[in-house]
Amino acid sequence: MLIELEKVTKIYNQDQVNEVTALMDIDLKVADNSMTCLRGASGSGKSTLLAIIGCVFQPTKGRVSIAGKQLSRLPDRFLTLHRRQYIGFIFQNFNILPALTVRDNITLPLVPLGMRPAEMNKKAQRLMERFSIDHRKNFPASQVSGGELQRVAIARALINDPPLILADEPTAHLDSRLSDEFMRFMTELKSSGKTIMITSHDPLVTEHADVDQVIDIKDGRIYAA
Ligand SMILES: Nc1ncnc2c1ncn2[C@@H]1O[C@H](COP(=O)(O)OP(=O)(O)OP(=O)(O)O)[C@@H](O)[C@H]1O
Ligand SMILES: [Mg+2]
Repeated sequence: MLIELEKVTKIYNQDQVNEVTALMDIDLKVADNSMTCLRGASGSGKSTLLAIIGCVFQPTKGRVSIAGKQLSRLPDRFLTLHRRQYIGFIFQNFNILPALTVRDNITLPLVPLGMRPAEMNKKAQRLMERFSIDHRKNFPASQVSGGELQRVAIARALINDPPLILADEPTAHLDSRLSDEFMRFMTELKSSGKTIMITSHDPLVTEHADVDQVIDIKDGRIYAA
């Protein structure tokens, strides 16, 4: 099982006046090769949960196991290594660097690995062809369309071939055509064996036929419907 959480609690600014309990006692198991949606109102804890699953930071309490490894006691350096190996992240605004070319945006996650440029470009090339953005590879990202940008973000998440793809409100800034297209790509990735987790309250996402389970979060707790 790629994702297993047990009694996970996240408290921001613990013991300070601005303390926030963002997650409380979350138990969660996600089947491999499935597509899961996290749904909840603004502030319910979706991004926090995704960040913990994505090995961005540790929970305050509880046990998190990603790809069979117990994260709770890993030092930050190993958490980062684990993230690079197992997680592909797609952000809400896609977090694309506008001044970099399409290709350099896609290879960005490989830079800390010290990979040779020729090898990085070969990996990027395959993905750019797969997502039909090859003809824009030398364009600065500021000069490509919204749909192309979305495909750049997906390609970047896949550059390391991680088994787990996490997307935080990926359709928030997309029209319905591009949202549909985004979900088609996610379906394709699921068919290719990936496990996918998406936070969203967009019905185009949460009610999509290829979503296996929708998890409702309310005030930091999983809410059984
Ligand atoms: N870095 C932080 N420091 C302190 N509090 C935070 C921090 N990040 C989030 N929070 C708080 O934790 C709670 C959960 O936030 P989170 O971002 O996980 O919610 P969300 O469900 O993703 O919301 P949205 O739909 O608006 O993105 C909120 O009350 C938020 O204000
Ligand atoms: Mg959020």
